[in-house]
Amino acid sequence: MPQLTEAKRSCYCGELRKSDIGKEVILKGWVHSHRNHGGIIFLDIRDRTGLCQVELDPKNIAAEYFESAQKLRDEFVIAVKGKVAARPEGMVNPKLATGEIEVKASCFEILNTSQPLPYTMDSYANMSEENRLRYRYLDLRRPEMQEIIITRSKLYRVVRTFLHENGFIEVDTPILTKSTPEGARDFLVPSRMSEGMFYALPQSPQLFKQILMVAGYDRYFQIARCFRDEDLRADRQPEFTQIDIEMSFITPEDLFEPMERLIKKIFEEIKGAKVEIPFRRIPYAEAMLKYGSDKPDLRFGLEIKDVTDIFRSCDFRVFKETIEAGGVIRALCVPAAAEKISNTQLKPGGEIPRVAATYGAKGIAWFKMEGEPALPNSNISKFFAAETLASLASALGAAAGDLILIVADKPKVAAESLGQLRLWLGRALNLINPDALEFAWIVDFPLFEWNENERRWDSAHHPFTSPMPEDIPLLETAPEKVRARAYDLTLNGEEIGGGSIRIHRSDVQETVFKAIGIGEKEARHRFGFLLEALSYGAPPHGGIAFGLDRIMMILMKRDSIRDVIPFPKTQAGLCLMTGAPSDVTDEQLRDVHIQLRREIKE
Ligand code: AMO
Repeated sequence: MPQLTEAKRSCYCGELRKSDIGKEVILKGWVHSHRNHGGIIFLDIRDRTGLCQVELDPKNIAAEYFESAQKLRDEFVIAVKGKVAARPEGMVNPKLATGEIEVKASCFEILNTSQPLPYTMDSYANMSEENRLRYRYLDLRRPEMQEIIITRSKLYRVVRTFLHENGFIEVDTPILTKSTPEGARDFLVPSRMSEGMFYALPQSPQLFKQILMVAGYDRYFQIARCFRDEDLRADRQPEFTQIDIEMSFITPEDLFEPMERLIKKIFEEIKGAKVEIPFRRIPYAEAMLKYGSDKPDLRFGLEIKDVTDIFRSCDFRVFKETIEAGGVIRALCVPAAAEKISNTQLKPGGEIPRVAATYGAKGIAWFKMEGEPALPNSNISKFFAAETLASLASALGAAAGDLILIVADKPKVAAESLGQLRLWLGRALNLINPDALEFAWIVDFPLFEWNENERRWDSAHHPFTSPMPEDIPLLETAPEKVRARAYDLTLNGEEIGGGSIRIHRSDVQETVFKAIGIGEKEARHRFGFLLEALSYGAPPHGGIAFGLDRIMMILMKRDSIRDVIPFPKTQAGLCLMTGAPSDVTDEQLRDVHIQLRREIKE
């Protein structure tokens, strides 16, 4: 009769220390590795706390149990009973928390077998992501992944504790709901009971949290699952988790203060990192100008400068025509890079123009600071007066050996392409301190952005974002000038959160809908319930949502949020483990009144 199957485990494998020597323990876990030394079997037993060495010596174990040990394979599930003993001299493993002890087994049992693994545990980290996701349960069994998932649990606890202690109330909101306009496509769920009707999965709890403010639940929070059918990237998943917040009677500063303390708490408790608050605030226009991005990586300098005025009267055709067409000339001065970046990397088709081209730049002009005294020099310097080149060098503070990169284009293209080059150079020249945490609030966003394809204004954040009160008169006359009371929190070049003060008056809300081409009828149809709620005494309110997965990604120093989500989807939106999305039976389709437009081939 097996003795250990039902026996209670006395402690976790990774917990045993020198102070436990002499104790009798029962351990349960997986065989991490095993080896036979002259008839004695040594194995490492593993659970989520770590490894412990076990010695199976036929002298100490009844033959019937020892026999089964011959069948042991890696990843079998076992139970071991035995005494904790000091490891012999010379066998201590200082790299292991349990490295000073081992368990001398008196009883041993196999609780379950395992098929041979598609990969060994140790080689798993180097496996293709496809295989890691296909066998996610094995991937998650690895200590490295267990650390991530356990840290994620800790993050949930830190967030909940902080928010409860600071007067926030946790309220949950529906998953089967009506479309919310966060700018992505909705995931739809057909209704069985209302033929031809659909629920949408929430892109965020946005409308519900505003309605909770109308209902008087000041200081709401929720760790909320959000669903967006959009193109996926390393920092985007179709379902992801937000720390969602809404507060009443506030200005942006009233929100920044507790949120900075929350973020500080998270990074200090989980990473032991020192975080200085308050975070710096950077207006959107300044971020775009200096860093070419609304989520600047502030771990290194290398600021972009506008040098349009210096070239206003030059004859160089590309610059001249750009300026005449209302474009700008912007420059990056890269200290001591003249020698590190080769002319091959700079010439048309080289790495640097290729990076700039991904954001639409038609080309890159460059100079290297050469000569005595040093002046900008390159294949195009002959087209410029010496004074123009000298003013360029002085405006950029360029010194001998520096490299100057210039883009002449529309402001958005010049900003974004130089912004991307700045990041590329930061990485290529090793300018980024991987341990630094550089937070910034980006503020004063424009309320609208021009949608060139549809030739209309769209909300830059979402249509419930309040305009700056002084800009309200411009809503109908000059929408491009209206600034929003919106803010993003950025960290090391990632947008980790975004929010705004909302519109709490239905008349302003209707004007904003009009500006983005949502007519009264459509507004009533899509958001009638919100407009109605706003008309019943809505308090001024605002909020924010943080991307919990992105925070986790930075905490764990990962490049992809797929690594910090227990069961993520691939770039193509597939779950390789379950096979979702998958087909359903004809009956299921009939139930929800759906007929496929064409037969889907196997
Ligand atoms: P927003 O759309 O800016 O705002 O989202 C807030 C934060 O959520 C994270 N995030 C994502 N993370 C992973 N995968 C995605 N597909 C994804 N999309 C967004 C980002 C982002 O900063 N309702 C508003 C918030 C508000 O106004 O209060 C909202 O959802 O870190």
